Amino acid sequence: MAANPSEKKETQFYYPSEAFVQNAAISGMNAYHALCRAAAEDYEGFWAELAQENVLWHKPFTRVLNETNPPFYKWFEDGELNVSWNCLDKNLVNGNAEKDAIIFEADDGTVTKVTYRELHRRVCKLANGLKSLGVRKGDRVVIYMAMSIEAVVAMQACARIGAIHSVVFGGFSAPSLGERIENAGAVAVITADMQIRGGRRLPLKAIVDDALAMSESHTVKNVIVYQRTDEEIPFDKGRDHWMHELMQSQSEICQPEWVNAEHPLFILYTSGSTGNPKGAQHSSGGYLLWAIMTMRWTFDIKPTDIFWCTADIGWITGHTYNAYGPLAVGATIVLFEGVPTYPHAGRFWEMIEKHKVSIFYTAPTAVRSLIKASSENRQFAPEQYDLSSLRLLGSVGEPINPEAWLWFYKHIGKERCPIVDTFWQTETGGHVIAPMPGATPQVPGSCTLPLPGLSVSVVDETGQELPWGQGGILVINRPWPSMIRTVWGNDERYKTHYWPEELGGKLYQAGDGAIRDPETGYFTITGRIDDVLNVSGHALGTMEVESVLAAHPMVAEAAVVGKPDDLTGESICAFVILKDELPQGDQAKSIASDLRKWVSKEISPIARPKEIRFGENLPKTRSGKIMRRLLRVIARGEEITQDISTLENPAILDQLRNSL
Ligand code: PRX
Repeated sequence: MAANPSEKKETQFYYPSEAFVQNAAISGMNAYHALCRAAAEDYEGFWAELAQENVLWHKPFTRVLNETNPPFYKWFEDGELNVSWNCLDKNLVNGNAEKDAIIFEADDGTVTKVTYRELHRRVCKLANGLKSLGVRKGDRVVIYMAMSIEAVVAMQACARIGAIHSVVFGGFSAPSLGERIENAGAVAVITADMQIRGGRRLPLKAIVDDALAMSESHTVKNVIVYQRTDEEIPFDKGRDHWMHELMQSQSEICQPEWVNAEHPLFILYTSGSTGNPKGAQHSSGGYLLWAIMTMRWTFDIKPTDIFWCTADIGWITGHTYNAYGPLAVGATIVLFEGVPTYPHAGRFWEMIEKHKVSIFYTAPTAVRSLIKASSENRQFAPEQYDLSSLRLLGSVGEPINPEAWLWFYKHIGKERCPIVDTFWQTETGGHVIAPMPGATPQVPGSCTLPLPGLSVSVVDETGQELPWGQGGILVINRPWPSMIRTVWGNDERYKTHYWPEELGGKLYQAGDGAIRDPETGYFTITGRIDDVLNVSGHALGTMEVESVLAAHPMVAEAAVVGKPDDLTGESICAFVILKDELPQGDQAKSIASDLRKWVSKEISPIARPKEIRFGENLPKTRSGKIMRRLLRVIARGEEITQDISTLENPAILDQLRNSL
């Protein structure tokens, strides 16, 4: 399967090199198909073998899959383990103790490295510190930190004592953070005094203070603060503790808390199609297994690799491919505090050169913004850097358009590195559809085929599988180990949202549309089928943004839709009806700017609408339902060809169309 340039053009396939194939964990398509066959022939046997060989069990499991109470499936349920023990202690006895676990590069370029031994030491000390504050197995701990070694230490320390962490992305506002703290019923928050990104400081601890002041249930008894800077911050002596002081007197030994395989490792909030975010609850055993397998299969990880996943630990990608997966396979990771464009647009390439990164995993939005930046200023183009250490590239979070794929392939991978376009979700815990880099011929714009063990289909509205070539709903046919277990505190929401009755109740509905290539069966994701937007790879619920806009004192009503965007994949367009009369000119501009700031403050800058259009009303049916599909057409600047006979107020369409 060596590269064959003449074939490339005809077939649009991109093949891994012979050398890559030979050394790969899954070497060639026959090996891939053999694994898929093994799973199809004996599903439980397939998973049992992987779990026995790849996870260290304190008490081995005897039961593989429990399907007696669908969709509340259990995996390896009588097995006991500890995830932090699998990630750290294992590496102290297998020759990795002095190997770098994390290479941390701060915003200002300062580099700090920690070995597995040192990471283990810090995790044990913080774990003991948390215990000394009364944090126990099953307690929830919210982590609100920026990218740092300490953030990984915090996550691992929770895992060590069986506390359930819930990391909230550092860009979320106080109300969003408060809502998550409340929903999780957290007993402690781990944060930092400041976050530094792109030369700017954000007062994380002050935001935690605000979030806690809004809290009604007062479950949080302790706040642990990592000191990132020397800035003075407000400190409540009865509640707040500096992380370094808490750790100082603690023992370097912390026996792991053995937990059941189904014990929740973490909750991670994700946007849903209704207003309030849902806490995806993940297990310990099944989640860890898939984090390990995907490191081996999708990333083909080798002991000498330097693995850099640019995702923040506040997202699922940062959980599985920074905090857990790479450590569980003894890899060295690069962790970056800053942003790709600071102090210049060559920062990513400079870091790849400096740290000799061999596997680079990032989001299409980042690729697109760097294409633009490097064409504007050749000084920071990738050609100015030595990227020869790279051997594999990955993409995640949103569809990668063929143009960006080809640029990534040519300019970063130098036509030498396979690209793994990984489709998955917060709820799936790890990759679902992705090329195996030493096997699957890649096609730009397609995430290709499901990983071995995952049975994925495209079905119609009744759950019937559709023939290849016909677009429909993406589903996963069988429970798999790393799947979401429930929505924290809301079993009903989990059941109805992910296992809809309309599809028969036994298919996991991803919420995405997909189509399979008629000849190869390759999957292409066609986008969300619900009201979830994907801005720069971040899922955002339209309702979430709408309810915040509607809560602004000037706003009577608001509707939000997605619109294709060259840079961010999708951008937010908001249609807003004010309580006062329709604003014009500069007044409209100034109100729009206020509303953007408001959304930033209430949710996060990610949720800020790029476009705001004012009208006297929204297009509604006679029964009062907002016709979003018409708003989507208007936002895209397309002609309305749909049936508008059920519309109560057709004249409003022209007004909204001309409102920019
Ligand atoms: O719509 C799909 C899109 O991102 C959604 C999941 O978002 P989130 O839970 O935030 O997790 C993102 C990181 C895994 C999916 O439902 N998505 C993710 N990866 C891809 C993708 N769409 C197309 N291609 C991908 N590779």
